[in-house]
Amino acid sequence: MATFDIRIIGDPVLKQVTRPITDIDGKLAQLATDMLDTMYAVPGIGLAAPQVGIQKRLFVYDLHDTPGVLINPEIVESDGEWTYSEGCLSIPGLYFEITRPDAVLVRGRDLDGNEIELEVDELWGRLMQHELDHLDGTLMVEHLSDPQRKAAKKRLRELMLDRTSGPTAVIRADGSVEVD
Ligand code: NI
Repeated sequence: MATFDIRIIGDPVLKQVTRPITDIDGKLAQLATDMLDTMYAVPGIGLAAPQVGIQKRLFVYDLHDTPGVLINPEIVESDGEWTYSEGCLSIPGLYFEITRPDAVLVRGRDLDGNEIELEVDELWGRLMQHELDHLDGTLMVEHLSDPQRKAAKKRLRELMLDRTSGPTAVIRADGSVEVD
């Protein structure tokens, strides 16, 4: 089993836009397996290639024991609104209440090169939007309200400088903080 180090906020690779994948081959399948192993080791429910320092347009996920890989994904349609306390393996210890579209239609390819479409909402929909953001160099902190940003500033700076995170905290849209 091979696993990667997970890149933490402040690492420039997390801000770069990934390149579309042109070759879906055995090497890519191995990368997806190693990314899933990395994700399970944390554990997490989604991991995008830039989070392990790889500038390719794919992410892996496993929600409710349903693992998957999406290659060159795009959001085709989105609908509604849903508020949820979102976390990220690259921002350990911090959860932010963020409102995004609820339902999305995502199109991409699987490891056999077949086109797949996923119509998902709530946690599934959030997972897809969050991971797709990573492929465009966007972290969830770019979706914060001003009070959230203020409340998290010190913790985010500490994470960027020395990767240490304090106790797990949920930061609500109004900037209030709940510490575990
Ligand atoms: Ni993330």
